[in-house]
Amino acid sequence: MFETEERIRFHKEILEKIGAPLPAISAQKQNFDKETMFDYFVDPETRQWKMWVADSWSAPRRLLFSQLLIPTMDSTRTDFIMKSIGALPVEKSKLRKEFGLRNTLLVGGSGTAKTSIIIMYSRQFNPAEMSFKRINFSSATEPINFQEAIESEVERKQARIYVPIGNKNLTVFIDDMSMPFINAWGDQITLEITRQLVDQKGFYFLSKDERGQFKNISNLQFLGAMNHPGGGRNDIPKRLKRQFFSLNITPPSNKSIENIYGRILEVIFNPKKYTQDIITMRGHLIEATIALWEAVAKKLLPTPAKFHYLFNIRELARVFGGICKVAQQAEFKVIQNVTRLKEKVTPQLFLIGLWRHECERTFADKLVNMGDKKTFQDMLNKVTKEKFRDSLGFDDEQLMTSMLFADWQRDDIFDEYGELVEKAPFVYEACTSPDDIRKIANKKLDAYNELFPAKKMNLVIFDDAL
Ligand SMILES: Nc1ncnc2c1ncn2[C@@H]1O[C@H](COP(=O)(O)OP(=O)(O)OP(=O)(O)O)[C@@H](O)[C@H]1O
Ligand SMILES: [Mg+2]
Repeated sequence: MFETEERIRFHKEILEKIGAPLPAISAQKQNFDKETMFDYFVDPETRQWKMWVADSWSAPRRLLFSQLLIPTMDSTRTDFIMKSIGALPVEKSKLRKEFGLRNTLLVGGSGTAKTSIIIMYSRQFNPAEMSFKRINFSSATEPINFQEAIESEVERKQARIYVPIGNKNLTVFIDDMSMPFINAWGDQITLEITRQLVDQKGFYFLSKDERGQFKNISNLQFLGAMNHPGGGRNDIPKRLKRQFFSLNITPPSNKSIENIYGRILEVIFNPKKYTQDIITMRGHLIEATIALWEAVAKKLLPTPAKFHYLFNIRELARVFGGICKVAQQAEFKVIQNVTRLKEKVTPQLFLIGLWRHECERTFADKLVNMGDKKTFQDMLNKVTKEKFRDSLGFDDEQLMTSMLFADWQRDDIFDEYGELVEKAPFVYEACTSPDDIRKIANKKLDAYNELFPAKKMNLVIFDDAL
């Protein structure tokens, strides 16, 4: 259940106080990569410490950025534990007169990849044996929603015994488990019915003819994910918590992040589509993004008035998502041709401009006052200079671009009779100038108003809206 800092302390304590035979970790690795014994396991064959290594990954044929999940050391480790727990025997223990449990609950801060780890785990199921059902809890989830979601996945086997459809096993993943509303009596009734299902393996029939009878549901396993309780976030009832093996998820290390986005950019910026000067930008972009992200997270801290100043891996995903959106539309050659810009720049500078734009879009748009925005702009400029000036040989003036990007700049194509031939493709590309993009926005607005006079919108498109 330890966080990164506590893991380091724990490692030190048992090394110094007990002199436990821990893996040998160099001082540099300890300080820089924050490596501890949690990054190792004992190999059952050699009985030696061995480091966790991320599972291998091969790119799917259709690359959808938002669905790409790359195994990391953290995910592989968690995966191993979930698998081991999931394979425990379930006979009733003679001693405790209870069934064994096969359920794991991942607890961790926001954006620590809990959901991603479980989705990755579920993709390894053999569909002939194990089905997967994901249920997202929110403060509005009622017990009936949960019961209906489960009932839609099971079928009658014998009189009052139900099994997952196709007589398989079913893993139910309850995401954001702590979210359900706490009522005036301090109860989370949605979590009570959840507990009943996990603990007593069923719930009561609601249909008229069998109401009040207990409906047994077998062959279920559960996985859960929840945020750390406290700071305005709920906990879950203890009697539900005890049904799970709880595991704390720490934020992914920089090494894991480099690994994730390194792999993704590797498949998107590949030599079949891009030239070497563009491909070499991959490493620079990742390094710069992590440096900026760390600086922002350190400087712009959350306070009660700015409680949303949380910068986690989700922000990184947005920055890279934007870059990949351009890079994936290789057929439009936006990067190579540096389309639309009035002053032509090299593809490398164009990519840096795109990167700066994506960082502004993700980070600066969260900031609430001019002071913070200025702080961010300074950080962005500093990182840009540090990471791209000497290594790529650009000067400051070339680097300090502020480009705008939009994906609605192309026009529909009509033939000479005014019939639509082709809808405009959504190409995410640079805008020639703020004035031009305003013109395009106004033109689209006029076209809309002409088409739907009843729903006419009189909008003033001011700078921030653009
Ligand atoms: N292994 C990975 N490969 C690719 N992207 C990842 C990976 N892990 C995390 N991400 C990115 O990080 C984002 C946040 O991860 P995720 O949604 O799993 O976090 P979470 O812990 O469930 O957060 P929350 O507590 O807010 O629900 C994902 O949207 C995804 O873009
Ligand atoms: Mg989640």
